[in-house]
Amino acid sequence: MYAQMVKTDSSRLKTLDEMSPEERAFQERIDRGEKIEPKEWMPEGYRKTLIRQVGQHAHSEIVGQLPEGNWITRAPTLERKAILLAKVQDEAGHGLYLYSAAETLGVSRDELLALLHSGKMKYSSIFNYPTLTWADIGAVGWLVDGAAIMNQVQLQKTSYGPYSRAMVRICKEESFHQRQGYDIMMKMAAGSDAQRAMAQDALNRFWYPSLMMFGPSDKDSVHSAQSMAWKIKINTNDELRQKFVDQTVPQAKYLGLTIPDPALAWNEDKGGHDFSEPDWTEFFDVLAGNGPCNKERLGARVKAWNDGAWVRDGLVAHAEKAAARRSGPVAAE
Ligand code: 3HC
Repeated sequence: MYAQMVKTDSSRLKTLDEMSPEERAFQERIDRGEKIEPKEWMPEGYRKTLIRQVGQHAHSEIVGQLPEGNWITRAPTLERKAILLAKVQDEAGHGLYLYSAAETLGVSRDELLALLHSGKMKYSSIFNYPTLTWADIGAVGWLVDGAAIMNQVQLQKTSYGPYSRAMVRICKEESFHQRQGYDIMMKMAAGSDAQRAMAQDALNRFWYPSLMMFGPSDKDSVHSAQSMAWKIKINTNDELRQKFVDQTVPQAKYLGLTIPDPALAWNEDKGGHDFSEPDWTEFFDVLAGNGPCNKERLGARVKAWNDGAWVRDGLVAHAEKAAARRSGPVAAE
């Protein structure tokens, strides 16, 4: 279903000696920790990799509104409704910063959206899972936003200036999102037996899909080596997944909930937890468009795009009239 926009072969990274003078100067800037800015020279592969990653990231933000937006009308109190509404609006804002960052690389938002709508560009696998109960909204904030921040805090150091700066603000807002999710889980876990059972059920269903958010294991990650050499990515998928597990285990313990992994155990030697890998067959199946909600999510985005056509037409007509008015007197002179 999905086409690759760029494929970098991690087993054949160029050495400095094999690079052209421009590529070498570029790599040396990256190695010195300099930020790359929009109008500066960059290898075509760097530009394409960024468009792929930033575009997918932007799509994840706006598709990510859907599973939570679905609960705004059903939030249990007015306060929870207001908080959830603010969070979902934040995600729309994150999408806008990221589409703007991608546009500085020479691709338009319309082009990126067309690639999303035709299934040629991905969004995060996690949003293809349903939110069945109010506890799921807690689990999404706690685990999904928690996993997103684990990645995004590092991405503040990414080498492309506009992406890195977008991440700074996004991370501040994501921390609030993670805390509101954990707060819901604290209330549910300290509630009635039925509420505790809902919280445990939400953790059971969201645990492995959250681990999948970090991408395939390092041995199967096609882009990591080149992306890390360019400092587009700062950590490998497995490094971040391990950090997330280590951070989340004590949080689950505090809630009195059990992580659904009998193999989970502290490993003194590595200074981290041993844990079971997600089911990678399921992951690749979700990426191929066969997750529980892929069709529904993409359908909702396409419908929103089509339903908004009259707004875009109106804006274009207004801009054309305004431009004609501005150029009118000059043309008459
Ligand atoms: N969901 C969907 N696709 C995924 C994926 C996931 N969880 N993890 C990996 N993939 C895809 C990759 O895009 C790539 O496919 P492609 O070649 O067609 O683009 C393929 O699987 C191989 O994976 P790699 O490890 O080689 O790919 P990357 O080097 O790009 O690493 C990544 C994957 C870690 C997700 C990286 O792209 C990244 O850090 N992206 C930026 C962060 C991001 O997109 N986060 C979305 C999370 S949700 C969010 O932020 C919303 C918030 O509100 C919760």
